[in-house]
Amino acid sequence: RKKIAIMTSGGDSPGMNGVVRACVRMAIHMGCDAYCVYEGYEGLVQGGNFIRKMEWHDVRGWLSEGGTLIGTARCMAFYERPGRLVAAKNMILNGIDALIICGGDGSLTGADKFRAEWPSLLDELVSAGELQAEQIEPYKHLNIVGLVGSIDNDLSGTDATIGCYSSLARICYAVDLIEATASSHSRAFVIEVMGRHCGWLALMAGVATGADFIFIPEKPRDDNWREDMCNVVEHHRKMGKRKTIVIIAEGALDRHGNKITPTMVKDLLADKDGLGLDTRITTLGHVQRGGTAVAYDRMLATLQGVEAVKAVLEATPETKTCFIAITENKIVRKPLMEAVQAAKEVAKAIEMQDFDRAMALRDTEFSE
Ligand code: F6P
Repeated sequence: RKKIAIMTSGGDSPGMNGVVRACVRMAIHMGCDAYCVYEGYEGLVQGGNFIRKMEWHDVRGWLSEGGTLIGTARCMAFYERPGRLVAAKNMILNGIDALIICGGDGSLTGADKFRAEWPSLLDELVSAGELQAEQIEPYKHLNIVGLVGSIDNDLSGTDATIGCYSSLARICYAVDLIEATASSHSRAFVIEVMGRHCGWLALMAGVATGADFIFIPEKPRDDNWREDMCNVVEHHRKMGKRKTIVIIAEGALDRHGNKITPTMVKDLLADKDGLGLDTRITTLGHVQRGGTAVAYDRMLATLQGVEAVKAVLEATPETKTCFIAITENKIVRKPLMEAVQAAKEVAKAIEMQDFDRAMALRDTEFSE
């Protein structure tokens, strides 16, 4: 029987449990044994009880659970070859040569590297006397499939990463709550949202809540952003608005690549010689990442989990490592490294202040 292992890696995101549930059940449905690797790559390196066989009922009720129940970790040991050697040995000892990983671009890059190194890792394990040649014979190729779990929605080639819509819903909910108190006191709020180098959460939250002004890294404001923001806010106030909401992405930059911080924005709104608004800052933080997944993420996790098992079973040594994407509402397989490379180039383009290129790269399409 084929043995397929599933793990979650990097920052957790709502929907990861739905992924694990779908993969475990689809693997069993396809006549395979399903395993979970607990604590991400750390579990692969540790082996033992970190790699557990899963039954159908083990994942019962997981669709409505937040976070990741099999744990996740940032594993330093796996970044080094000795760590990956131990991981490979643990997989062989468990009879596993198919791995589904749900995580962000960093975790998926690690997976692709592991796959490329796999034959040499096995050879080294045999020559070091850690494994017998006959032991590695059935496991000559490692099949890996990625699922993108992240609240940031920062990977090119897919319309949505698993978790981003849950996070967006939570941000909207929080902004609605803040609006009530802002309106009562006629105050301004500067709300910082997550997203690392990506402004998707801030942009969509701005649209979905009707914020007065937003700041995102990919489209920095002109040099006169201070006057622009004050003019917009003043205009809205003159039209009778009793509250002011400015949403700022945690990675927001100005045209010159300098960080725009919530404090800078707050000071401007509160400036006595200007708008003089009673202003507060709210950093939403990790509430954006926790909690249960919205229906869309549960659906995405389930459909993509099913597709990942199919992909891992169909993979050959010749096929490129793929990840499961959603494009124009269709669940599709795409080459992983092209998407990861594009994500890296987006970050580089932002650093170089080539914002048009960054936007174009985010929209890049890949086909298998
Ligand atoms: O990538 C997900 C994310 O939540 C980012 O939006 C944020 O910048 C980062 O992770 C926070 O990481 P940590 O949980 O390690 O503080």
